[in-house]
Amino acid sequence: MSSFKITLNELDTPVKVLFTGYLTTVAIGYLFALIQILFTHGMADGKFGLSIDDIVYSYYGNRSGTVLENKLAGSMKGKATEQETFKIIQWVRDGASQNEYVNGQVDKIIDAKCVMCHNEDAAGIPNFDEFENIKELTTEDEGATFSSLTRVSHIHLFGISFIFMFIGLIFSFSTTASSKYKSIAIGMPYAFLIVDILSWWLTKLHPMFASLIMVAGGGMGLSFAFMWVVSIKEMWFMEKAWFCKAEPTCKQKLKQAVKLLLKAIKFTQMTLLPKSFALLKSSFSWLYKKMK
Ligand code: HEC
Repeated sequence: MSSFKITLNELDTPVKVLFTGYLTTVAIGYLFALIQILFTHGMADGKFGLSIDDIVYSYYGNRSGTVLENKLAGSMKGKATEQETFKIIQWVRDGASQNEYVNGQVDKIIDAKCVMCHNEDAAGIPNFDEFENIKELTTEDEGATFSSLTRVSHIHLFGISFIFMFIGLIFSFSTTASSKYKSIAIGMPYAFLIVDILSWWLTKLHPMFASLIMVAGGGMGLSFAFMWVVSIKEMWFMEKAWFCKAEPTCKQKLKQAVKLLLKAIKFTQMTLLPKSFALLKSSFSWLYKKMK
């Protein structure tokens, strides 16, 4: 078979625009996925930011309490006042009877503070107009249900494999790495994806697998970033070398640049990140309030 090679650099501009448009959109999608993770799983332990605890709570559950209690301490924190929250929790601990639900006026709190979101029009979250739906949440928190895991698993497998199909295809026309390393980079996200989803199920069975979810998720993100950067670089910035040639002035500049970068990373870690997290958090809670 005669060999037929396309390289990213030599593509016609319209094709480059097509590829770049796709890569940009998918990158923004990835960003939103991360924000989504931060705001659902990230809040599972009641603190902002993703931790192993969040993952354990999301998949294995927090078996020291009921779903309702854990949500009120986690992502539903602040939806009711502390006193109201206390009242709900007390009702749960006292056996969550329907009588007490009405007599203790827990129903009033739920109506006033929860039903605006948890009603029959809301998709995917329980409708609190029905007592049974609340009652169900007063049992031990066993994390993700098998039906929700099945649903999310198949959506992720189908959806993400498509994303990596196109990213891998675009990246396969790159020339920076040898065929061997390209094959590894292209295959990696699929391996990570399968491990990621498998580890959700494993974590559902035992919390020790939670770190596997983090590793697999991180690996998937790294493969994504690597293929993305190389593809964009080869399409538009091929003339510029990745690194210096052996001349001393350039090396010196590189050293300075690395120093600057390290400083920037330190600054980002110490000041920028906490501040922007706080900003992001408050702007999203503002947005969340506006959109509900
Ligand atoms: C602004 C809208 C909104 C309000 C108000 C709200 N919730 Fe939620 N609730 C959600 C969303 C969205 C989810 C799904 C995401 C999540 O689990 O964090 C959810 C999930 C839950 C869950 C988990 C359901 C499940 O099946 O896992 C519980 C329990 C819950 N809320 C309780 C409450 C209670 C109690 C209140 C009132 C004090 C309340 N929520 C107020 C939007 C809301």
